[in-house]
Formats: sequence, C-alpha cells, structure tokens
Amino acid sequence: METQPARPLAARRPSTPLAGEIAVPGDKSISHRALMFGALAVGQTRITGLLEGEDVLRTAAAMRALGAEITRDGGDWLVSGRGIGGLTPPEDVLDMGNSGTAARLLAGILATHDFSSVMTGDASLRKRPMGRVIEPLKASGAVFTAREGNRLPLTIQGARDALPITYRLPVASAQVKSAILLAGLNARGITEVEEPEPTRDHSENMLTHFGAQVKVTQAGRGRMIRLTGQPELRAADVVVPGDPSSAAFPLVAGLLVAGSKLVINGVGLNPLRTGLFDTLREMGAELEIRDFRIQGGENVGDIHVEHTALVAVDVPAGRAPSMIDEYPVLAVACACARGVSRLRGLSELRVKESDRLAATAAMLRAGGVRVEIEGDDLIIHGSTQPAGGGLVETHMDHRLAMSALVFGQATREPMRIDDASFIDTSFPGFVALMRRLGADISVP
Ligand code: S3P
Repeated sequence: METQPARPLAARRPSTPLAGEIAVPGDKSISHRALMFGALAVGQTRITGLLEGEDVLRTAAAMRALGAEITRDGGDWLVSGRGIGGLTPPEDVLDMGNSGTAARLLAGILATHDFSSVMTGDASLRKRPMGRVIEPLKASGAVFTAREGNRLPLTIQGARDALPITYRLPVASAQVKSAILLAGLNARGITEVEEPEPTRDHSENMLTHFGAQVKVTQAGRGRMIRLTGQPELRAADVVVPGDPSSAAFPLVAGLLVAGSKLVINGVGLNPLRTGLFDTLREMGAELEIRDFRIQGGENVGDIHVEHTALVAVDVPAGRAPSMIDEYPVLAVACACARGVSRLRGLSELRVKESDRLAATAAMLRAGGVRVEIEGDDLIIHGSTQPAGGGLVETHMDHRLAMSALVFGQATREPMRIDDASFIDTSFPGFVALMRRLGADISVP
C-alpha cells in the first residue's frame, strides 16, 4: 500500500445542508474476529455484512495462508475452519498491512500453533509496539523474535503443549485481551485475563457464540475473563452490524453543518463502544437512537441526527476505552463547539496508526484552532467557526484523514489532506458516501 501514490483531497463547507439516509460498512473489530474464529471452528461459518476494507482483507488472506478456506458468496463470506490447533504453517510471510488488530490477534493464535511463522506490516504498523502482546504470550511457551523495540517483522515459534496464561492487563486494550484469549483456545486449562477497565467485549461474545466456555465477572472497576481451553469451536453464522467508529464521521459532519438532518441505519451499539454518543449528547447534540434491536448478539439501532450548536465538554479518562478510536473526530466537534474542551487520559492514542494525540492536535492547529497537550490530556479552544485553510498530514492514518475531511465541512476556508488512500483500510466508499449526503470533497 505504501508504494501507491498519495491521494490529496480538499474539503470545504457545503452550500446546502447534509441530508439523507445511509448505512456505514460493517464493524472492523467484529469482522476480524468473525474470520479468525471461523477459521478456528469446525464447519462452515457464514458472515453477513463483513467489512471489505483493506485491514479485514489482510486478515482473510492470513487465515487463508494458514489453511482456512475463505470465499465470497454473493454479499456474504464463507469460512471453512480447521478446528482449534488445526491451522497449517504458512508458506510465506504474513503481511498484516496497516492493521494492528489483525497483527496482535493473530500473534495470539500463532502462539499456540506448533510451527513457525513471520509477520510484518506497512511502515505505520512496523512502528507500533508488539511487546504488549509478546510479553504475556511468552508465558504460553511460544518464542518470539522481534525487530528492535519489539516491532514487526516478528518471528513466532508457537508452543507445542501450550500453557494457559494468567495476566492482568497493564493498559486497557481489547487487542491484548483478545490475543491472550485466542492463545488460550489451544492451551489446556483455564486462561485468565483481568482488565483494569472494561474494553470492547466482541471476542468474549463471539467465543460464546461459537460454543466456547467464557466466564466474565466484575473485578473492581474492570473485569475478569476466564476461558476454558481446547473447546470444540463450532461454526456459527455472524451478522456484522455497522461500525459505530465509522458512523462517527457522517454523524459529526451532520452535527456541524447548519440545517443538516441524517439517519444512519443499523449501527452497532455495544455499550463498550458508545462513549462518543454519550459525549456528543453532553455537548448538546440532537441525537436519537430509534428501532433499537439485538442482531446476532449485538445491540443495533438507527441513529437520527440534526445539526446542533455544540458546547465544550470535559471527558473523563475512564471513558477512553469506550471511544478510543473516536477522539480525532470528537476533537473536530470540540474545535467547532463553544468553550474550552478537555479530553483526558489519551496516552493510548500515541500508539495507534499514528501518534494520534500529536497528529490530532496538529490537524486542529492547521485549521487555526488553539490546542494544548498537557500530559496525556488534549485541550481544545473551540469556536463556532474555525478559520481552516490548512494542510493536514495524515501519517498513514485513516481516521485522521476522515476527521480532517469532516473538519473542512465546518471551517471558513477549506481543509486539505495530503493522502486519502488509507481511508480504505476501514471505510471503503467514505468519500462517495459523504458526497451523496451533500459534502463538498474534491481533488485540490
Ligand atoms: C480494537 C481495539 C482497540 C481499537 C482498534 C480495534 C479491537 O485497540 O483502537 O481499532 O478490535 O480489539 P486497543 O486494544 O489497542 O485499544
């Protein structure tokens, strides 16, 4: 991907309100997991609504390289699994592209398969820390050889008779939790993960859906998760809801552009993912969930949103896990809100697809907004219409690119981005969908 030419774009305030009814692509977290669990199950899993973004396609390619049969059937995807411990050695390096979730979860699977494999990724992923999964996964008996600083490329020699892991997460990370649970599938005995703050529980939900025994109990402010090893995972159909992290972009655009009125149908509303919606409501957003339903074990609803004059907000650090991917676009909303906002406890943003704390601050500054970083907090001095007019460096980060294009819908002067190509990792069709709503996005 990094060899492709950059695709610059410009976004400017549209002359008419944004309006329409849309659906966003499938949830990225659930899509990765559906392919991985399907590949480890016995039988055929049908996935409806899989996100066909670059990140998820990397997971599909990796699971194929490890022996699963994965095909597209109309709009659905079919996965014929190999059973727990049944994956086979890959013939080549596994390239996880831009996807931290794919790399970290797969490290868990490979830790307890008795063969050796090599994993790499693009320039962004090769900068991201893998020590957070390598350290706990070593306790299974697997041997890891990473590049300096625990970065990819990474060689994994999986354990023969894997031991179950007991681990308390030092950071709130659903990826680390999931990597350990995936390793635990092929270890005898009980794998135990304690998380200090609850993080997205798609792995726990889907493991149960595929027939594994997972027990979740409260542990202080967080949770203790116990998985019984070597279950027979049985293929199970998965319906993927719309990704709330993707819905965030048209949603904030609808709030910012005067007179706008949008409906976003079929959005996943897992309570561990909805921090942004709560926060926007605190900012005064006209935001309503209608037709709330349970679909494939996950909460789903239709989001109705209308333009609202927003006010500043103070977001507590404890809310971060429930909206970790939404801070760049929340920061855009804060830049266009009356008053000074404080977003607290954002250390984890430093190790995303880019250093998202620094890059988000730089994006707002490029649009003439006063921003400070104090420790791990982001302080944003909002105004009803920031100046805009700047160029945003997106650092191979899809969410920065989309946030900057949303920002440009509200600023006085257009905002430009250096490269839109990474948007396809999570939200293929984003620009076309935004244009359909009336957004003004063009090649500069
Ligand atoms: C994800 C977990 C989060 C999130 C990422 C997807 C997952 O990462 O940022 O986009 O699917 O488990 P962390 O676990 O590093 O917080």
